[in-house]
Amino acid sequence: MRWRSPHLLQLLLWITLLICTAASSGFTICSYNVQRFTINKAKSYKVIHTLTRVLSRCDLALLQHVVDPDGKAIAALLKSLNRATDRYDDFSYKSVASKALGTSAEDMQKYVFIYRVETVNVTGQDQYKGKQKFVRPPFAIQVQSNKTAIKSFILVPLHSDPDQAAQEIDWLYDVFLEVSKKWNNKNVMFLGDFHAACAYVTRTTRKSIRLYKNSNFSWLIGDKVDTTVSEDTNCAYDRIVVHGEPFLKTIQPFSAGVFDVGKEFKLTKNKVLELSDHHPLKVVLKSSALFLRATPPWLLLSLSLVLRSLLFAL
Ligand SMILES: *[C@@H]1O[C@H](CO)[C@@H](O)[C@H](O)[C@H]1NC(C)=O
Ligand SMILES: *[C@@H]1O[C@H](CO)[C@@H](O)[C@H](O)[C@H]1NC(C)=O
Ligand SMILES: *[C@@H]1O[C@H](CO)[C@@H](O)[C@H](O)[C@H]1NC(C)=O
Repeated sequence: MRWRSPHLLQLLLWITLLICTAASSGFTICSYNVQRFTINKAKSYKVIHTLTRVLSRCDLALLQHVVDPDGKAIAALLKSLNRATDRYDDFSYKSVASKALGTSAEDMQKYVFIYRVETVNVTGQDQYKGKQKFVRPPFAIQVQSNKTAIKSFILVPLHSDPDQAAQEIDWLYDVFLEVSKKWNNKNVMFLGDFHAACAYVTRTTRKSIRLYKNSNFSWLIGDKVDTTVSEDTNCAYDRIVVHGEPFLKTIQPFSAGVFDVGKEFKLTKNKVLELSDHHPLKVVLKSSALFLRATPPWLLLSLSLVLRSLLFAL
């Protein structure tokens, strides 16, 4: 059989490996409610270590509920991410943060984006100051990356106030109008702990939310997903929503979901709860590689199947 020629086999192996590597190297965006991330929490080696492992998997991550008035907690986290010795990757990380936001002095929180310098350009920032009275108004950033199929996009974070969650999610539509106009860019992703489920936002309430009603917005985390760590709660509080067909098309199908830290790193529930009572979310944007965009998924699949059968035939 000519197929069994070792050279041809080797060639096929390399091509498949190359394609698979490129295909898996999309651009990962994460969102994590780190439940009162303070300097004291950052002093725990275990917390910083695990958080570093999580964030090392993200090109760009949004942290919420960061209580860090002087920036020392985030500085400690960045130091760990950038430390040469126990690095999980070859990237260097930076952060961009909002001011401390809130309505009571005891509960001022920052939105913090942590990103890889090598794959992310932050090309703009905008603190929402419009008429809607968010407790923690979104701090949007515009991002560009030569690694993504999409040229430039906007991230709008929200850690909603539980008492007015439905209203705040609805107001994100007003934020959308503002930032898409400001940057002349309709590729907008909303992410964060919206409290968009269970007692805070019921199914009936959800129907009156503009971001939910308007079919131009796609909710990538479904209502049945459990974004909480505890066994006692089963709620899709944390969400990722994208605007528009062009943006939706550059998202890897089925890539949005929770990142189960416990399962992934073999940690007990109690250890995971030391970090947060929420799971991180992740979503992957398609890679910009030209040949990948030109390669239909069925071809990738058949290639890998052919390779598998060839390997078994050896
Ligand atoms: C993408 O940008 C990074 C950082 O600026 C640069 O090192 C890299 O060469 C760029 N890649 C391409 C394909 O332009
Ligand atoms: C960031 O922008 C610079 C200047 O436009 C560009 O050279 C570089 O490739 C960009 N980096 C990435 C990661 O896209
Ligand atoms: C959805 O987007 C299209 C294209 O931008 C626009 O024409 C249409 O009015 C939008 N629909 C709604 C309900 O906003």
